Amino acid sequence: MEKRILVVGGGVIGLATGWELARRGCAVRICERGKAGREASWAAAGMLSALAEVHFEEQDLLRLGLESAAIYPGWVEELEEASGLTVGYRTDGTLIVALDRDDARNLEHRFQTQKHFDLQVRWLDGPEAREMEPLLSPRVTAGVWCLDDRHVDNRRLIEALVVAFCKAGGELAEETPVERVEIRDGKATGAWAQGELLEAEAVVVAAGCWSGSIGGLPEACRPPVRPVKGQMVALRMTQEARLRNVVHAPDAYLVPKEDGCLFVGATCEEMGFDTQITAGGLYELLRGAWEAVPAVYDYPMVETWAGLRPASRDHAPILGKTPVENLFVATGHFRKGILLAPVTAREMAALILSGKTSDLIAPMRLERFGRRLG
Ligand code: GLY
Repeated sequence: MEKRILVVGGGVIGLATGWELARRGCAVRICERGKAGREASWAAAGMLSALAEVHFEEQDLLRLGLESAAIYPGWVEELEEASGLTVGYRTDGTLIVALDRDDARNLEHRFQTQKHFDLQVRWLDGPEAREMEPLLSPRVTAGVWCLDDRHVDNRRLIEALVVAFCKAGGELAEETPVERVEIRDGKATGAWAQGELLEAEAVVVAAGCWSGSIGGLPEACRPPVRPVKGQMVALRMTQEARLRNVVHAPDAYLVPKEDGCLFVGATCEEMGFDTQITAGGLYELLRGAWEAVPAVYDYPMVETWAGLRPASRDHAPILGKTPVENLFVATGHFRKGILLAPVTAREMAALILSGKTSDLIAPMRLERFGRRLG
């Protein structure tokens, strides 16, 4: 008999995991409190920056990111085939730039880390960086070209996942908040939504920054995630001044899209669940973008928005089993949800179907937050 799975949360992680399980023959229902993928997944810029955003102390996260980046092309191909939609996957890399001596020193440290891990990166001096990206400011003193970074149109990715999930037989229940997870004799047996018990053999909590507040979760199963606000602005590039590459400047990143939009992001604010757009937030983003690419001054502004990244205490995702049997978590992807979707889906599906946690996601277990010193 096919295994019944209930996924709480229809963002990129819930959808990708749901699609993977449905493809493997499970009967999957996703309960989404609003519209699928309209929170952090929609607000993202779509960067797949395993290389550019590397930190020496995050080696397990790097391993996960590199694996996800490696399987992304095949995953996108399958997704496009299954959904009949394209998702704008692009392979042009990321250019990190420095604007003064401090930035350049900082960048050198990151470059050393990237070289330490044998990542495909190249050091550029100011003129070399400008040759690659003529719109860069004359102030740019150095750059690092991250050859293997990619990007995708995250909104089209969401739309494709919804279609692929439903075509694979999945049931997507939007506007259906989960009231509480049902636990009987130490096992998750489903969840209550709209007054009805939806029975399942496994429950996966993938509700982004709301994951810790789902009703019915025992304290030991509550993933410690908080919202980290990111404000974004979309500009329209002019014909004569189109940025070619994704540019990471010290105070903003710039992501050119196929339709001529330039996404500029993002603030990182500890503001709880507030998603207001503020003058200060926009000012900082536009200043940060303008310092690196002065041409943005003339671009019309077309949209502003803010999203809530789900951040755990160590900013790595929380993946795997919980102390309650048949209850799983896949959340806390912070700045990397779009990048980590394929690997999360694959590893979570394997875990749910086999009961075995792979070495790749073992370091991401919920129980790491239960440890005490001494
Ligand atoms: N991944 C970019 C951000 O979170 O702003």
